[in-house]
Amino acid sequence: KSTFAGLDLGTDEFAETVRTSLAQVEDLLLAELSSGDEIMTEAATHLAKAGGKRFRPMFAILAAQFGGRPDASEVITSATVVEMIHLATLYHDDVMDEAQLRRGAASANSRWTNSVAILSGDFLFARASRLVSTLGPDAVRIIAETFAELVTGQMRETVGVADGGDPIEHYLKVVWEKTGSLIAASGRFGAMAADATTDDVERLSRLGDIIGTAFQVSDDIIDISSVSGDSGKTPGTDLREGVHTLPVLYALRSDDAASQRLRQLLLDPQTGKARPVTDDAEVAEAIEVLNASSGMTAAHDRLRAYADEAEAVLAQLPDSPAHGALSSLVRYTIDRTG
Ligand code: FPP
Ligand code: MG
Ligand code: MG
Repeated sequence: KSTFAGLDLGTDEFAETVRTSLAQVEDLLLAELSSGDEIMTEAATHLAKAGGKRFRPMFAILAAQFGGRPDASEVITSATVVEMIHLATLYHDDVMDEAQLRRGAASANSRWTNSVAILSGDFLFARASRLVSTLGPDAVRIIAETFAELVTGQMRETVGVADGGDPIEHYLKVVWEKTGSLIAASGRFGAMAADATTDDVERLSRLGDIIGTAFQVSDDIIDISSVSGDSGKTPGTDLREGVHTLPVLYALRSDDAASQRLRQLLLDPQTGKARPVTDDAEVAEAIEVLNASSGMTAAHDRLRAYADEAEAVLAQLPDSPAHGALSSLVRYTIDRTG
C-alpha cells in the first residue's frame, strides 16, 4: 500500500505542497540507499521499492507546516532520515519475527537470507546516520536516543513481561518504545527543521507519541483482524511468535467461555506464560475467537481514546492548513485496515 486511502489533505494547493515534499523524500531516499555495489543496492532498496505508506515522512512534513520555513531542505532531509531508520528496523524485525511477507512482497530474509537482511538493515542505518549528520549534533543526538528506545522496546518485547508484572503496562511501554518513539521523533524533526517554536516542537512530539502508540495498536489489531493479503503481511504473525498484543491481553483478562478457550490455545499449560502457536488450525481458531471477543472491542475503545487525546493536543497548536490534514491522519491511524 503506497497511498493513504481517504486521507484528507485539505485544499488542492496544500495537498500539492505535501505531495511535492513527499516526492522529494522519495528521490532522496532512493539516492541515499544506492551503493556502488549492485547486490547491496538491490537488497537495500528492496523494501523501499516494495511500497509503504511513508507515514513518518508524511507526519514530519505536516509537522513542519507549523514552522516559519516549511519548505526548507532540512525538512526533506529530516523526513527521509526517519523513514530510513524505520526501514532499517523492518529488515531486522522480519528476521526476528521470521516474517515472509512485507508490503505485499517477499521480506528480504525470505527473498535472500537472514544474513542479507541483517546486513541490509545495517547499511540503511549507516546511510541514515550519514544523512542525519548534515542536520547537526542535536539531530544526531535525538536520533541516537530514539534508536536506543526502539531497540530497548524490541528487547523488552522479546524478553516478555517480568513475573508479577502487569502485561498491559508492559505492552504499552513496548509499543511506545518500538513505534511511538520514532513517530514522536518524526514530528519533532519536521518541526525543528522548519524552525517551529520550542513549545510547538514539544506539542508535535507529544502528538507523535500518541499517534505512534495508536499506530502500533492498530497494527496489532490488523494482525488479528485483517483478511489475508489486505495488510501486505501474514495475519497471525504475533500469535505465531508468542507475542500477546492488546486485543489478546484484554481478551485473556476477561472470564467468559471464549477467554477460557484462548488460554488453552495461547498459554503454556506448565508455566501459564505466552507460547508460540505453531499449528495453522490453532492460529486460525485463535484469530476467530479473538475477532468475536470483548478484548477486540476493548482494543478499539482504547484506539478511540487515543484519537481524543491526539485531538486535544492538536487543539493547542496554532492555526495552519496542516491542522485538518493532521486530524485526518489521526482518524486514518485508528480506522485503517491495512
Ligand atoms: C515492528 O513491530 C518493529 C519495530 C517497530 C521495531 C523494530 C526494532 C528493531 C528491530 C531494532 C533493531 C534495528 C536495527 C536496524 C539495529 P512488529 O513486528 O509488531 O510490526 P510488523 O507487524 O510491521 O512486523
Ligand atoms: Mg514484525
Ligand atoms: Mg516484531
